[in-house]
Amino acid sequence: MTEIPEHLLNRSKARRAAASGESTGDASPAVAASATPAAAAPAKKNVAPAPKAAVPDPVYVAAAKNRRKIPFWAMSALALLPIWALIYFVAVVPEEKVVEGPTAIGTAVYSSCAGCHGANGAGGAGQVLYEGNAIKTFPHIEDMLNFVYAGSQKYVAAGLATYGDPNREGGAHKPLGYNGNPMPQQGEKAGGGLNEAQILAVVCHIRYDLAGADPKSEEWAAEYEAWCSPDSEIYKALESGSTSFDTIDKDFSMLDPKPIAVGTEPRLGTSRK
Ligand code: HEC
Repeated sequence: MTEIPEHLLNRSKARRAAASGESTGDASPAVAASATPAAAAPAKKNVAPAPKAAVPDPVYVAAAKNRRKIPFWAMSALALLPIWALIYFVAVVPEEKVVEGPTAIGTAVYSSCAGCHGANGAGGAGQVLYEGNAIKTFPHIEDMLNFVYAGSQKYVAAGLATYGDPNREGGAHKPLGYNGNPMPQQGEKAGGGLNEAQILAVVCHIRYDLAGADPKSEEWAAEYEAWCSPDSEIYKALESGSTSFDTIDKDFSMLDPKPIAVGTEPRLGTSRK
């Protein structure tokens, strides 16, 4: 014989009691038998529903209630969750690039050039600088410093037909030869707003970040170390004022290669050796 679960028995007992108007659970079998559905129906209306507590939970609810909510062994893992989240974010969020040295300073200075030359040096109102263009025009950084310092109009006024490398691949660049507009003078003595350290910084940014000179290559390593690296003695000396564009070739004559005079007055450029 199949056993009827206790809670089902209790439930039917309670139902019967409710149907017959009794509040207690001990309804006699006789009363229960006489309570046919037809007879029970009208009676039900006048009777308050059985108190909820009398209805036991279904098995699965009871099981859920009796079960321990979080297994004890999971507690330690859960407690460590915030620490784990912290470690995760520290590991995943990229580190800020360390801002130091001429190229970093030059990146900030370049924001005043980007309107004409494009954020990446692709050109626009100003000459194309990226994809090797600026380093083709100026194989020597000294010539680029001089041109940016003085600007196109000073070159025209000095009667110079070209700036940068006179034997440039694709032809020497002529002042006002790009679209007829001048490259505005940047140096303080020429009427611009930048000091010499800032001009070196922005030129370093153009050569090494935009134009594609590789600081590790045989061609550019010496220039990069002397002029544009975070340890550049030339940059530090310009910043402190212990050298200037007019004296740099003498002050740093011990370098190999020896610097060409930069100067602040327009002058002809030089070719690649
Ligand atoms: C108002 C627009 C304008 C601004 C701002 C400007 N330039 Fe220029 N730049 C030009 C033009 C135009 C030329 C072409 C010069 C010419 O044809 O005489 C040029 C040329 C150059 C060249 C020579 C490139 C080559 O290969 O011939 C360099 C280097 C340069 N600019 C750097 C800079 C730097 C650095 C700044 C910011 C400090 C700057 N420019 C701001 C318009 C601008």
